[in-house]
Amino acid sequence: MKMIHLLRVVPLAGWSFARLCSKSVILGLILSQLLTAQTSGTTISEKEVRVRVDDLLSKMTLQEKINQMAQVGAYALPGTPSLTPDEAALQGIGSILWVKDPVQINKLQHIAVEQSRMHIPVLFGLDVIHGFDTIFPAPLTMAASWDPTVAEKGQAVAAREARASGIAWTFAPMVDIARDARWGRIIEGAGEDPYLGAAMARAQVQGFQGDNLASPDHVLACAKHFAGYGAPDGGRDYDSVYISEDQLWNVYFPPFKAAEEAGVGSFMSAYMDLNNVPATGNRFLMHDVLRDTWGFKGFVVSDARAVADLVTHGFAHDAEDAAYRAATAGVNMDMVGGIYYGNLEKLVRAGKIKEPQIDELTRPILAAKIRLGLFEHPYVDESLHAQVVSDHASTNMARWAAQRSITLLRNEGNILPLDKTGKRISSLAVIGPLADDRMAQMSMWGSGGDRKRVVTVIEGIRNFLGDRVRVEYVKGPNVHRQIPSYFGRMLGEDDPQLTPRQTQEEISKAVTVAKNCDAVVVVLGETAFLSGESAARSTLELPGNQEDLLKAVVATGKPVVLVLINGRPLDISWAAENVSAIVEAGIPGSEGGDAIADALFGDINPGGKLPVTWPLHTGQVPIYYAHNLSNVPEGSPIYAGRYSDIPTTPLYPFGYGLSYTTFSITDLKIDSPATKVGGTVTASVEVENTGKIAGDEVVQLYIHQRAGQASRPVRELKGFRRITLARGEKRSVKFTLGKDELSYWSTIEKKWVLEPEHFDVWVGEDSTAKLHGEFALTK
Ligand code: BGC
Repeated sequence: MKMIHLLRVVPLAGWSFARLCSKSVILGLILSQLLTAQTSGTTISEKEVRVRVDDLLSKMTLQEKINQMAQVGAYALPGTPSLTPDEAALQGIGSILWVKDPVQINKLQHIAVEQSRMHIPVLFGLDVIHGFDTIFPAPLTMAASWDPTVAEKGQAVAAREARASGIAWTFAPMVDIARDARWGRIIEGAGEDPYLGAAMARAQVQGFQGDNLASPDHVLACAKHFAGYGAPDGGRDYDSVYISEDQLWNVYFPPFKAAEEAGVGSFMSAYMDLNNVPATGNRFLMHDVLRDTWGFKGFVVSDARAVADLVTHGFAHDAEDAAYRAATAGVNMDMVGGIYYGNLEKLVRAGKIKEPQIDELTRPILAAKIRLGLFEHPYVDESLHAQVVSDHASTNMARWAAQRSITLLRNEGNILPLDKTGKRISSLAVIGPLADDRMAQMSMWGSGGDRKRVVTVIEGIRNFLGDRVRVEYVKGPNVHRQIPSYFGRMLGEDDPQLTPRQTQEEISKAVTVAKNCDAVVVVLGETAFLSGESAARSTLELPGNQEDLLKAVVATGKPVVLVLINGRPLDISWAAENVSAIVEAGIPGSEGGDAIADALFGDINPGGKLPVTWPLHTGQVPIYYAHNLSNVPEGSPIYAGRYSDIPTTPLYPFGYGLSYTTFSITDLKIDSPATKVGGTVTASVEVENTGKIAGDEVVQLYIHQRAGQASRPVRELKGFRRITLARGEKRSVKFTLGKDELSYWSTIEKKWVLEPEHFDVWVGEDSTAKLHGEFALTK
């Protein structure tokens, strides 16, 4: 009967019969089949998972269990001794990362399943951050949509493409809150706010994992980097982080908690010191918070080499101590450091770690493989990838996601949308180093995607206009990093630096072309390796000579639209005063060029909102809307002059974004002026499209608790809804505030508290909303 079942599974998995004909394969398969009666896509009960894990553990040697706790890279990091992927597969190593090719994945999987003693399949992991082949907008850009379905659908496409290549595990979503835009990895998260961050975290987990990990189009997700990585000193990547208990629980943890509640299968521990204890050796984080308080049952993988780096940090004495500290703090899997498989057995033999502890650390790794259906379907159908990536629906989805993420920052005199008929604008200059930069649109983390499929801005504009309008393009001066990036060198570095003379020549060419055309679109921002890992910047100004280029083009007197391709908020204060229209496209992905053209010529109406405050000057960072009131609140005579040289207020507030239409938000009603602690409060408003065309508004609700055991932020986002309204349409939008929205972590009581206090409520178009109401919670 088992054999019949086995044969039924074969075509489903796409195996060729020839491959099955070795004795060891048959034995390996029978073994896995004896352990299960599952077929593809069937959800496996947790009881069965437990039984199967127990069975495996009872047959594994100590070193085999430890090997499951190791992850090996397809190539070794400098200074890190490593097994080759073939050796790793043969020795029953738990996971291999940085292999993308399905043929290579199958080859390694055959070694693991057929030749390793326990025949346990390898879990292949990769950074599928915002797309696999089809690249979606980067997470910060997706967050600008304020539409969690964008994140969910985008990550579902990414999961499908990745799984079709044999990748069953992604190191995403990154849910680190970031309030200092100098930090280059701000691009990978949802920005500064825990409430928006939590919504995006939930949606991404759902997109990646779906409802059944064993289905052929989902992958195991990984919430990273636990925790606090987004707040390094000075914005410098990897630097120490000091976060108070209040901020950890109320600001930095909530997106992780949301990912956990959404069922995320794994967490990644962060690199840096958190309050002087490296996150990867931090028992408070991984044991007290993650397991004891939140009840997380999945597994924690370290960041790359982060276990080995417990020594580098000056925390662990040596490799053995590092293994001890990470394992006892709660790291189940050691990413590429070689520390676990080299040291844990010694620690068990010496009695410092007990074998049952190793069993408990290995258990969730094996459980994940069972839930993913890897024992039944270890191999990937090598023809599937080509079929999946050619699915036109994914391309359309990427364009839709980019459209929904575009944020209009300025539109003086309604210069946008531009005329698309060729009547009023018969020639258009497209200028700037980001107008035709495929890598920049994909970002460092999307650079593994299909570069050929990227539609750049100039291509998108040409696709849109056809021959109705003469389009001329000049690149302008290059953008490059002053200090080359380690990752950039590995993956294809930025443009070379031009001499001052060459730069001047490029600017002159641009001016000539601008003068020759009816209107100009200038595309500026950041190249791929100016954001992402190890890409902090000391200034948020437009890098290189881009502002000089912009000033020269604006000086021609032609109508100018600035389009930004960028991984972080930029200091564009000059442009904000002097350029008529500014469109923030962020990192828009493969379909960015078409989506941007759709917005420029009015086929879509931009509805994105900033998920992070844009400073007026780098010197203002960290700057975020949910700061506390202080003794000098807004409106007091001292407030505005707290800096002697620049205003205190940002360039664009959190939640800001314009539209080609206008909206009014009125009539804030709160259902009851006083509600008992523990009850719910309802706030509703009337939203009306008062302009001439249909458009989207993101209605945002903020609260402030006026007094209590602790000072609470001046405003906190506690509700948002993106709605589409036809011209003249009016709709009520209702928000419910309950325990989750009204409680906060008290460092006095060491728990979440709801206090009988007075609350302010504002509802509006961004975090400076004026429409005000209030209510009280009573005993
Ligand atoms: C990054 C992680 C990433 C890992 C694997 C590390 O350098 O910090 O975010 O998942 O590499 O590529």
